[in-house]
Amino acid sequence: MYKQHAHISSRHVCIEYEGEPMTVPAGISVAAAVLGHAADHHCRSSVISGENRAPYCLIGVCHECLMEIDGKPYQQACLITVQEGMTVRKQQFKGGETNGQ
Ligand code: FES
Repeated sequence: MYKQHAHISSRHVCIEYEGEPMTVPAGISVAAAVLGHAADHHCRSSVISGENRAPYCLIGVCHECLMEIDGKPYQQACLITVQEGMTVRKQQFKGGETNGQ
């Protein structure tokens, strides 16, 4: 679905995505890692419909990319660069909760 540019760094980092190790190019955003390397390409579910949602704008505008990163909920995955050992989980919404804002 997504193709990686040839100029992306040949250096890689290992992050933990949904409890599983995932090796991705250093310097890309967490959203790019999810889109390009995770099998399911989504980062959260809609609070209202429960449908899977995926990063969309990749510039910090749409908030479709909210994820739990290193234990912090509601992080915009498109604005955060992957780091070695980073833990990334899909954002889970609990009953009555919106997006924390
Ligand atoms: S993908 Fe739109 S804010 Fe991150």
